[in-house]
Formats: sequence, C-alpha cells, structure tokens
Amino acid sequence: MIGFLLLFLLVASCGDVFVEKELLERPQAKRCSDCHSDIYKEWEKSRHALAWKSEKFRLESENYTKTKCLSCHAPHQADPEVKPTLRVEFKEDGVSCVACHFKENTKAMHGPHKVWSPPHPSKQDFNYARSFFCAGCHQETYKEWHLTKAQKSCQDCHMPSLGEKRFVQKFPFEYFHTKKPRHDHSFPTGKAKPEDLAIEVERGETLRLKVINVGIPHNLPTADQGDPKLYIIISALLPTGESSRIVKVLSYQAKNALVYKEPTYIELPWAEVKALEVLIQRKLSWKEEREDIVKKEFSFKTTVHAPFSRSSCPYGRGPSSHKVF
Ligand code: HEC
Ligand code: HEC
Ligand code: HEC
Ligand code: HEC
Ligand code: HEC
Repeated sequence: MIGFLLLFLLVASCGDVFVEKELLERPQAKRCSDCHSDIYKEWEKSRHALAWKSEKFRLESENYTKTKCLSCHAPHQADPEVKPTLRVEFKEDGVSCVACHFKENTKAMHGPHKVWSPPHPSKQDFNYARSFFCAGCHQETYKEWHLTKAQKSCQDCHMPSLGEKRFVQKFPFEYFHTKKPRHDHSFPTGKAKPEDLAIEVERGETLRLKVINVGIPHNLPTADQGDPKLYIIISALLPTGESSRIVKVLSYQAKNALVYKEPTYIELPWAEVKALEVLIQRKLSWKEEREDIVKKEFSFKTTVHAPFSRSSCPYGRGPSSHKVF
C-alpha cells in the first residue's frame, strides 16, 4: 500500500496528471462533491444552496424578471467589497461552491488554508476566516455587526468548527492529506438563547417593558432582503382578575429590530397589573411557523401601579394618553 502511494506521488510530481482542467471552468456544485463529498452534503442543505430555488424568492423576484434581485441569489463571484454580478451558468445552484471559492484573476480555488491540491490550483486567502468575506451580500448585517465591535465572526456562529477532518473523501487523494480544521457548510442560522435577551419591567413615567439583545452581535432580527420577525407577546393579569394581551412585531423592514445592547422600550397599556407573562418568538424569512425563544413571568406581591394615573398626574399625561404602538 505504502509503496503504491509513493509511486503515485512520484508520478504526480512529474507532471499535471492529477489536474482536472474543467474544475476551473466553473462546473456545477455537484462536480465538487466528487472529492469534497462531506462539504457538499452540508452545503446542499444550506439556505445558500436554495437561494435561487426558494419559492418565496421566485415569487418576490416576479419569476426571476426583477433583474436587481438576481445577483446575490446566483452570484458569479463573491468579493467582499462589491455586490456580486449575476452568474450565467447553473443559476439553480444559488450561492455555490464556485461563487464563493473560485477567483477569475488567479484561476484557482481560494480558501483559508495553504494546501497542496493536485486536481486544481488553490490559493490561501485569510479573508475566508473573517466576517468581511460575507459583506458583499450580507451588507446590512455586516454593517450592524461591525458597529458592535464583536470579537466573534459570522463564521464562528454560522460556520461553526467541526474539528479536524479530511477535506476530501476520494481515493486515493484522501490519504495524501492530513486532517485540518473544517467548518460547517450548512451555514446554520441558529436560534437566540433565552439568555441572549434581557427582559425587565420598568416603572418609568408609565409601566413599560425593557428588552435588550445582549447576545447576538447584529440586529435581531437582521436582514438584507428577507423579512424575519420577532413577536413579543405580553399577557397581563389585571387586578380585576381579567387578562389582557398585546403583541408587538419587530422586523428589519419595519425598522424596529432589537439593536445589539440598546434597550427597546414597549409601553404597556395597563395602569395596574398583578402579573405579566412575556413570550418572545421568532419567525425566519423562509419558514411559516414561529418558534419560541424565551418565556418570562413576572408576578408582583402588591399590584404594580403606573406611577401616574390620569387623575394624579399634574400635567394631565396619564398613561392612557400615551400612544401604545
Ligand atoms: C478530484 C478531486 C477534487 C475535486 C473534484 C475538487 N477538489 Fe478541491 N481540493 C482537492 C484536494 C485534494 C484539496 C486539498 C485538500 C487538503 O489539503 O486537505 C482541495 C482543496 C480545496 C479547497 C481548500 C483551499 C484552501 O486554501 O483552504 C477549496 C476551497 C476547494 N478545494 C474547492 C473546490 C471546489 C469549489 C471544487 C469544485 C469546483 C473542488 N474543490 C473540486 C481535490 C478536489
Ligand atoms: C454571494 C452572496 C453571499 C455571500 C458571500 C454570503 N451569503 Fe449568506 N446568504 C446569501 C443569500 C442570497 C441568502 C438567502 C438564501 C435564501 O434563503 O433564499 C443567504 C442566507 C444566509 C443565511 C441564512 C439566513 C436565514 O434567513 O436563515 C446565513 C446564516 C448566511 N447566509 C450566512 C453567511 C455567512 C456566515 C457568510 C460568510 C461566510 C455568507 N452567508 C456569505 C448570500 C450570500
Ligand atoms: C445585496 C445582495 C442581495 C440582493 C440584491 C437581493 N437579495 Fe434577497 N437576500 C440576500 C441575503 C443576504 C438574504 C439572507 C437573509 C437576509 O439577510 O435578508 C436574502 C434573503 C431573501 C429572501 C428570504 C429568503 C427566502 O428565500 O425566502 C427573499 C424572499 C429575498 N431575499 C428576495 C429578494 C428580492 C425580491 C430581491 C430584489 C428586490 C432580493 N432578494 C435582492 C441578499 C440579496
Ligand atoms: C457562502 C460562501 C461559501 C460557499 C457557498 C461554500 N464555501 Fe467553502 N468556505 C467558505 C468559507 C468562508 C470558508 C472558511 C471558513 C473558516 O475558515 O472559518 C470555507 C472553507 C472551505 C474549505 C476548507 C475547509 C473548511 O471546512 O473550512 C473547503 C475545502 C471548502 N470551503 C470547499 C467548499 C465546497 C466544495 C463548497 C460547495 C459544496 C463550498 N466550499 C461552498 C465559504 C463558502
Ligand atoms: C455570536 C454569534 C453570531 C454572530 C457573530 C453572528 N450571528 Fe447571525 N445570528 C446568530 C443567531 C443566534 C441568529 C438567530 C437569531 C434568531 O433566533 O432568529 C442569527 C441570525 C442571522 C441571520 C438570519 C436572520 C435572523 O435575524 O434570524 C442572518 C442572515 C445572519 N445571522 C447573518 C450573520 C452575518 C452575516 C454575521 C456577520 C456579519 C453574523 N450573522 C454574525 C448569531 C450570530
């Protein structure tokens, strides 16, 4: 076996026998799976792989006729500084391997490592491990993230480490290469944890709820073109024993998303409450159903009053005169 491999290496070093030229002619993503089959299987499940085929995208781009919509959903080449141009071939691959890794100027696959890759030239490029790499398409989210000065990159959360693994699952190449750091190409969206949201009830001029995104270093929800939403459902138990409920919807499109570490206040319409229950749910752009993020209950030993009622407020600005979204 060893002898065979050594012979193989010797032959390989004598020429371009391993070069597969059409890999540099922008093939379909499926072609990359001949060797990178694990990465392909992850990518196939990702939103990037569905960016063109997405039914919602098809409808909203008016059956692919709105040309300004198309370039990020089937990009030719991902460069951080510029919005991509539309790819000519295999648009159904969406945000594909070639779009993210192949560069026209070097005719090589760019990636985070220095590798020896006989079938195609490769070039090391440190941008791949940086948030900046995602900026060309996720423009708004990148700007939000940049302002937070967060240490963690987009990749830390949306391409989490899978430990050291082989990049290639094809004989005999797999034996020529050591295991190296791998990252999840299913690009998981993830979900905020209960502790990512700080929720308090405050008695300012009125009773109000304070919500802070303390855990996600971009707006929650964040978007460039999608319309993910956060639902804040507040139920109150009133002193009369009756219950009452209000729902506030937050989104990027409505420009009221939770900015990282900045408090958002929600004025409550009740002058007195015995207990409050706050349920926060999210709905991703491409999902129909909502999912719970956190549920928090507040009960008050004594009934909580808003500090000013209409009769006691010297300026006549009781809580009932406040606009409640
Ligand atoms: C015939 C096998 C083969 C095919 C097909 C193939 N590659 Fe590779 N690729 C390799 C090998 C071998 C390496 C080096 C692996 C290592 O060092 O562990 C590599 C490495 C890479 C790297 C890593 C570069 C870095 O610097 O981190 C990228 C990116 C890459 N390939 C992209 C692609 C893309 C995109 C396609 C499809 C267009 C593709 N490859 C098709 C064999 C292949
Ligand atoms: C060439 C453009 C492009 C680049 C570069 C790009 N993305 Fe995307 N990304 C998209 C598009 C388009 C979608 C939406 C796909 C869909 O659902 O239709 C998307 C969706 C996503 C989603 C899913 C969001 C959701 O709604 O659930 C995540 C997570 C994501 N990208 C992370 C990243 C990260 C991290 C990087 C950088 C490593 C990156 N993307 C680079 C275009 C890009
Ligand atoms: C600058 C790049 C860019 C352009 C141009 C763009 N999108 Fe997107 N689109 C994205 C990214 C990135 C996402 C991932 C979620 C997010 O950040 O909104 C996305 C997500 C979406 C989604 C939600 C995911 C899904 O598949 O359901 C829809 C729908 C969508 N885009 C439609 C459009 C439409 C319609 C246009 C044209 C008006 C457009 N996009 C133009 C980058 C772009
Ligand atoms: C949205 C852009 C994007 C797409 C699509 C994409 N990659 Fe990557 N890929 C990256 C980034 C960014 C990294 C570096 C991650 C890091 O180091 O944090 C990477 C890393 C790699 C690596 C090095 C090993 C690793 O897991 O870190 C290989 C090999 C690779 N990609 C191949 C592929 C292949 C093959 C496909 C298609 C099946 C593909 N990539 C699709 C952005 C992309
Ligand atoms: C500390 C981890 C972390 C970092 C860093 C991070 N994100 Fe996120 N991101 C998340 C989590 C968690 C969610 C899911 C929020 C939820 O529950 O809906 C998310 C959601 C998203 C979504 C889907 C829309 C939404 O609001 O649900 C996109 C698109 C996205 N992130 C892109 C990016 C990009 C691009 C970067 C880098 C500029 C980045 N993220 C940095 C954790 C992170």
